[in-house]
Amino acid sequence: MPLIDDNLNAYLNKLMPMVSGEIGKLQQKSYDEGVPIIPNDVVRLISVLLSIKKPKKILEIGCAVGFSSSFMSSYLQEGGYITTIERYPVMIEKAKANIKRLNLEHKINLIEGDANQVLKTLDDEFDVIFMDAGKGQYINILPEVYRLLKIGGIIIADDILQNGNVAKPKEEIVKRQRTIHYRLNDFLWEITHNDGLDTSILTIGDGVAICYKTKNIEGLIINEQKES
Ligand SMILES: C[S@@+](CC[C@H](N)C(=O)[O-])C[C@H]1O[C@@H](n2cnc3c(N)ncnc32)[C@H](O)[C@@H]1O
Repeated sequence: MPLIDDNLNAYLNKLMPMVSGEIGKLQQKSYDEGVPIIPNDVVRLISVLLSIKKPKKILEIGCAVGFSSSFMSSYLQEGGYITTIERYPVMIEKAKANIKRLNLEHKINLIEGDANQVLKTLDDEFDVIFMDAGKGQYINILPEVYRLLKIGGIIIADDILQNGNVAKPKEEIVKRQRTIHYRLNDFLWEITHNDGLDTSILTIGDGVAICYKTKNIEGLIINEQKES
């Protein structure tokens, strides 16, 4: 759901071209079939960020059918690669087929499993980490994401404003969405107050956070706040 006025959203979507070529066809097919890939305004934002950053190594959490990893692979430095994580078997099969069809197997390494477990097993340093999986997990996986991110690297976290609900008091949130509401609020507090991150939050798509890592830090500060 867009966070901005419908007319403006429709105008911007019409204005900004979709991805071209075979990856663009996968983008359109995914929209047509209702696969929850990133909207085109987020595609454009990531395109600009990666053009500036020129990453060698990207970690993606939430691969789905492999659209965003395929798209991001065209911004890698020579010899660079993407590690992407997906836990849902139906998506894994589609992603594998798409990555193979697009001849990107040498650039994209798909790890099958739950990010909560997989992240702990990784021992690499990434220039960019794209968080695009279950938003209720973002606060839980943030320490591992932080560990795996280089100083000077960036986190791009998608879908963080819950259609604007993050800003509402808990009484206005339906009960089944309260846990995600608390967790997203904790995540947003942490990334905007943690000394090791310089963060901007944009109302593009359903909200995107961009965090620049300035230094290493030990643990999350929200936990210290809760304990004191
Ligand atoms: C929004 S989709 C990703 C879209 C993809 N990044 C794109 O734009 O092309 C989120 C994906 O994350 C996966 N996912 C959710 N929680 C996960 C977890 N804990 N570990 C691994 N994958 C997860 C879902 O199965 C789903 O396919």
